[in-house]
Amino acid sequence: MIVGICGSPRKQATEHVLEEALRMLQEKGLETKLWTVRGKWIEFCTHCDYCLKNKECVLQDDLQELYALLTEAKGIIFATPVYNGGVSAQTKAVMDRTRSVVAGDKNFFKNKIGMGIATGGDRNGGQEFALMQIHTFYIINGMIPSGGGFFGANLGATFWTKDTLEGAKLDEEGFRSLKKTTKRFAEYLELYGKK
Ligand SMILES: Cc1cc2nc3c(=O)[nH]c(=O)nc-3n(C[C@H](O)[C@H](O)[C@H](O)COP(=O)(O)O)c2cc1C
Repeated sequence: MIVGICGSPRKQATEHVLEEALRMLQEKGLETKLWTVRGKWIEFCTHCDYCLKNKECVLQDDLQELYALLTEAKGIIFATPVYNGGVSAQTKAVMDRTRSVVAGDKNFFKNKIGMGIATGGDRNGGQEFALMQIHTFYIINGMIPSGGGFFGANLGATFWTKDTLEGAKLDEEGFRSLKKTTKRFAEYLELYGKK
């Protein structure tokens, strides 16, 4: 199963392009699930270290349902709006809160395949930096990061939304990068996907 995590608090550009990515993967025969931060109760990691001793998070909020999905996932897509040149705070909170699942199983993320999608209001608003934050998370956790290849996608899928859903829908280059990235992600799943 592929889990797409939407790091936008709105049902707008990021959720739309993530849905499109999942649709492309479904067409390749893959089972997908979208999980969004929108409307969810998500606490910050407080570095209490409860998880190191107890192998679970002390915070029993809506992240619990994501942990269950991630256990099943052989591939993960983080899709984030660009906020101040990087991932959204919601996306980062989700990343930090995975400390508890890794405390429970240090190989939790190992060899899962990861790809990223970043949507920015500006053409060069920090999408590549946001993708690097996502890939850094993947690398730290032993995952296999997947970009989209040169001539169009490079580090992953990037969208210039002009701050609207309509802008994202009109971004042909963005969809080209999405198509190339989902294609490579599916290839990596085929080649290296362990679960
Ligand atoms: C707090 C905040 C910070 C933002 N910072 C940036 C930025 O640094 N660069 C950029 O291109 N867009 C920035 N934006 C615009 C969003 O990235 C853009 O509108 C995005 O497509 C929103 O995704 P959504 O439609 O899924 O909410 C910012 C928006 C907000 C709310």
